[in-house]
Amino acid sequence: EKIMNWSLILHEDGFWCPERLLRPLISFQRNYDSKDNDILLATMPKSGTTWLKALAFSIVNRDIYSVSQSPLHTSNPHELVPFEFQLAGQRNRDEGRDYHVFATHMPYASLPDSIFSSKCKIVYLCRNPLDQFVSDWHFHEQMCWDVKPEFAIEDALDLFLQGKQNYGPFWEQIQGYWNASLKFPGKVLFIKYEDLKKDCRSVVKRIAQFLQMPFAEEEEKNGLVEQIVKLCSFESLSNMEVNKPGKWNANFRVSNNVFFRKGEVGDWINYLNPTSASRVASLMKEKFGDSGLTFEG
Ligand code: A3P
Repeated sequence: EKIMNWSLILHEDGFWCPERLLRPLISFQRNYDSKDNDILLATMPKSGTTWLKALAFSIVNRDIYSVSQSPLHTSNPHELVPFEFQLAGQRNRDEGRDYHVFATHMPYASLPDSIFSSKCKIVYLCRNPLDQFVSDWHFHEQMCWDVKPEFAIEDALDLFLQGKQNYGPFWEQIQGYWNASLKFPGKVLFIKYEDLKKDCRSVVKRIAQFLQMPFAEEEEKNGLVEQIVKLCSFESLSNMEVNKPGKWNANFRVSNNVFFRKGEVGDWINYLNPTSASRVASLMKEKFGDSGLTFEG
């Protein structure tokens, strides 16, 4: 099933995905052989995936690269940390690395079995629905799809509320990872974009701890956590030459700058009226009920 000109298709597991990715995603589900040293970064699109990729890359490779020598100075995070559908052909993935980091937008229940039978760890980053939606809408406006969607934001919101967006429904994906993080806290770490904005340092330390590679006292004393936070900040990454308009991503048909728009909490207020916002709020209340999950922003 297609939704207007967004080229989304309903995966048999019940989530919407880009039509061109359906086969690669199914192939990943069926064939991916996860190893114990895998680290999977999971998100809804536009929830801060780029940021999480940069942070996780910096945390796990901190023995290999100093912050000043980080490949993030010359490559976009999406060129350093692949998505699951880009893994095929990366046979030499473990060369010289202790950890293998990659990302997914797939729901928890749809991940390959090997993810669960291996010791692979999952870091899930969520963002409040209004900012995620507004960010997604902008991204589609800038994307270089075959057909450029030109939706009024209200029309896009109607689709969002029906769960029809990349990897939607939003609430189903988030609930899946939220529940898993409560049930298997050693397997799934659940973090929020808003907490990263508020106190990135603490979240970075929590991620490192969860990955069983906590910062040593010496590293902390030397300010390594702060350096990583600074390197991966919106200001820093978006001002890198490689992330300027016109620098095309090696893995996507987009210019690297589209992954950096505003990077703020609460920007939705500039795009959605109070009626729209309350439609989203009441749906989220209905869906998340007393799960304990709340959103800020
Ligand atoms: P906005 O459109 O609200 O600015 P993703 O990486 O999942 O595609 O999400 C993109 C969103 O994260 C965009 O949000 C983008 O600006 C924001 N973002 C990207 N890098 C960031 C960073 N280093 N710090 C904070 N936000 C960042």
